[in-house]
Amino acid sequence: MKLPSRPQDKIIIALDVPDTDGAMRLLDTLEEAPALCKIGLELFTAEGPSVVKAIRSRGSQVFLDLKFHDIPNTVAHAVHSAAKLGVAMTTLHASGGAEMMEAAAKAAEDAKGNDLLLLAVTVLTSMDAAQLASTGIGVAPEAQVLRLAGLARESGIGGVVCSPKEVASVRDSLGSEFRIVTPGVRPVWASTGDQKRVMTPGDAIRAGADWLVIGRPITAADLPKEAYARVIEEIT
Ligand code: C5P
Repeated sequence: MKLPSRPQDKIIIALDVPDTDGAMRLLDTLEEAPALCKIGLELFTAEGPSVVKAIRSRGSQVFLDLKFHDIPNTVAHAVHSAAKLGVAMTTLHASGGAEMMEAAAKAAEDAKGNDLLLLAVTVLTSMDAAQLASTGIGVAPEAQVLRLAGLARESGIGGVVCSPKEVASVRDSLGSEFRIVTPGVRPVWASTGDQKRVMTPGDAIRAGADWLVIGRPITAADLPKEAYARVIEEIT
């Protein structure tokens, strides 16, 4: 997938709603179709492929965030199905291992004509050092993020999803060709909500992020269209 050049194309709108109607209402408030919308587990589990088609037919590309994690054969087939659906980006857990990621990368490549960007999820931001240790991983979360991001790149995965605080170190150690998508972005004028490790959109882009996933600062704003325009302005 090509890197966005226009600032507005660097914003991925998180469609954290329970159904297609909710997604459509949310898009109505923005008027202009976002370049990319993120469909996660809640919406996809409720509505299935039809919601992907509905979003695409309104002119947005889809980031299907289902975080695949299974044996290589199963993940490869899931990636194949995502490519057939015409999504632009999808996610998988790097902790599934090199073989799983290689199988996924091959499936994406085999899906000719579909320019599907695979993104690895490294350490969930909900995991702290103690939780990581309880799963048998005794290194600091930051070290594990870089280790898994490196493994993802070696396995043919195009990029990662990481917290804004990790963007600079991932960019430093993995170089400019590796794609970085970051959620947890908050303009100074928006409430942080339940996001703890936040950064402003401008700072996240300057740190090296290629795309920003933004939900509530835009979707829950009193005037979503205006909030969207302010964020675009901030990264222009
Ligand atoms: O509303 P908000 O801007 O916080 O939405 C951010 C989106 O990114 C949500 O869909 C959330 O699930 C997702 N996300 C996140 N933090 C992570 C990974 C994903 O906020 N570490």
